[in-house]
Amino acid sequence: MPFCEFTDDLRVGHETIDHQHAALYEAVNRLNDALKAGRSRQEMADILGFLRSYTVDHFQAEESLMRETGYPGLEAHHALHAELVRQVLELEEKYTAGTMILSIMTMHFLKDWLTHHIQDEDRRLAAYLRTM
Ligand SMILES: [Fe+2]
Ligand SMILES: [Fe+2]
Repeated sequence: MPFCEFTDDLRVGHETIDHQHAALYEAVNRLNDALKAGRSRQEMADILGFLRSYTVDHFQAEESLMRETGYPGLEAHHALHAELVRQVLELEEKYTAGTMILSIMTMHFLKDWLTHHIQDEDRRLAAYLRTM
């Protein structure tokens, strides 16, 4: 069983957003698999780098949709995105520099953040996009 499964209840009903969320879950699973398998620091750093860049791209895609449609919650939603990107960048930097290890706690943090954000902010955004 995967570490985090992109189940139907996580779908917000917007094709692009759902597709990108599923890919994010996949990347988190890849990172978790690599962690469990004791992969090399380089391999882990590569997966972490992919996860960071895909996350940035996904957040930009959502924020473009918000701007195009005049979403009233843009600023608050953007602030949450920016804070996660900051944390992931810090994690990546420290991990690459060898001053931090990746733990199961970090994996749970990523999984929980994504899940709560999707169920709350992204669901609200998708509901708004449907009214456009
Ligand atoms: Fe999202
Ligand atoms: Fe979001």
